[in-house]
Amino acid sequence: MLTQNEGMKNSIFNKKFAFMSKVVQGFSKLSKSEKIDWLITHHFHKDESARGLITQYWHNDEKLQGLHDDFIENTVSNFFLPLGVAPNFKINDEIYTLPMAIEESSVVAAAAKAAKYWGNRGGFRTELLGEEKVGQIHFCLPASYDRLNPFIEKIAPQLRQDLQDITKNMEARGGGIQTIELRDKTTALPHYFQLHVTFLTVDSMGANFINSCLEEMAKRLKVYLSNDAQWQEEAKDLEIIMCILSNYVPNCLAKATVSCPVEALEQEEGMSKRTFAEKFVRAVEIAQKEPYRAVTHNKGIMNGVDAVVIATGNDFRAVEAGVHAFAARDGQYRSLSNAYIEDDQFYFELTLPLAVGTVGGLTKLHPLVRWAIDLLGQPSAPQLMQIVAAAGLAQNFGAIRSLVTSGIQKGHMKMHLLNILNQMNASDHEKEKAVDHFKSHTVTHAAVVAFIQALR
Ligand code: MEV
Repeated sequence: MLTQNEGMKNSIFNKKFAFMSKVVQGFSKLSKSEKIDWLITHHFHKDESARGLITQYWHNDEKLQGLHDDFIENTVSNFFLPLGVAPNFKINDEIYTLPMAIEESSVVAAAAKAAKYWGNRGGFRTELLGEEKVGQIHFCLPASYDRLNPFIEKIAPQLRQDLQDITKNMEARGGGIQTIELRDKTTALPHYFQLHVTFLTVDSMGANFINSCLEEMAKRLKVYLSNDAQWQEEAKDLEIIMCILSNYVPNCLAKATVSCPVEALEQEEGMSKRTFAEKFVRAVEIAQKEPYRAVTHNKGIMNGVDAVVIATGNDFRAVEAGVHAFAARDGQYRSLSNAYIEDDQFYFELTLPLAVGTVGGLTKLHPLVRWAIDLLGQPSAPQLMQIVAAAGLAQNFGAIRSLVTSGIQKGHMKMHLLNILNQMNASDHEKEKAVDHFKSHTVTHAAVVAFIQALR
């Protein structure tokens, strides 16, 4: 029998061993099936059902699977999200059906409902407020801004010229480098400057283009400083810290608006149209003033935004980061949307920074992304920005409307009902009965479980 001390030592050893056995060298060099073998052995106690689960999601078409395998490193399977569509989006008098990739039960239904609501009231009006993208060279140099700035202004035309190999195609499409500006950051960090560069990237999101331009520009900056007699000494201390695009794009904006006379709003249960409009406006004002509410309010907007951004193969992390920074641009995190009543007219509007593309990246590679872009009629990037803004506004409208009337859970749980039934492995017959029953009863997890158990 082990003493308590020995038992403890053993358990520490076992834990350490278990931990060590999960460390692997050269994993990326293994074939896909070797990777899965390793996972099943080291993380699933050799349980073959874990292999079955992961391989079940492979595509039958090897070529298509190969395409997905190559998107990232260490692909072992595909992770499915539902792709839904929200029809009847009237945007600037055109009708769109929006592709939405999202797992949350009620989002597509809410988008479709809001699209129908506003489709009957003139639809969404959208506009492009800017297309400017940003990249920065962050560098340190022991110099004064007043001396460095004229030098940068002098070499800026030459820098543009030097980048012609990278920029000429983009320029032919109407884009390229817009401005090159030295920014003095020395009060934030000693010797810290930025070359703040703005770009137009036309229909591409532009990340690769921007980063290539910046890296080449940084090399040239170093050469010009070193070769200039007046800068040779300081140039030895030049430190290029990094060159990278910024996902904060406050001048790459799309705005979506809906509006109608208060009296043309739909009659909500238990309140006048004016009360509904005023309550709605107050709810948005609360999100303007109160960060706890603003975060959830904006999350509702991003339900619609991300779903379209993902379906169209765009970088939703970039969009999310940029949008939330924009929501806090005056120092406090606030609602991205705005609502008001003026002369008995109800207005609801949303302005979003959106760096999205319809060419390049996944748009050519992923067959479903191609399909989604075709579904939208192959929009330009500025058009896609406006469609995404409309999706965000629709989603926000649907959420606020529910919140200030019936409450969010009614619609949410109605859509969630099928998830609960699936968790319980309900048969088609049971599902049919449950859906019918819960048309007139409140859906809660406990109520659904009780209903199905009673049936069984
Ligand atoms: C849920 O995904 C989104 C909402 O919480 C948004 C909101 O509260 O405005 C319903």
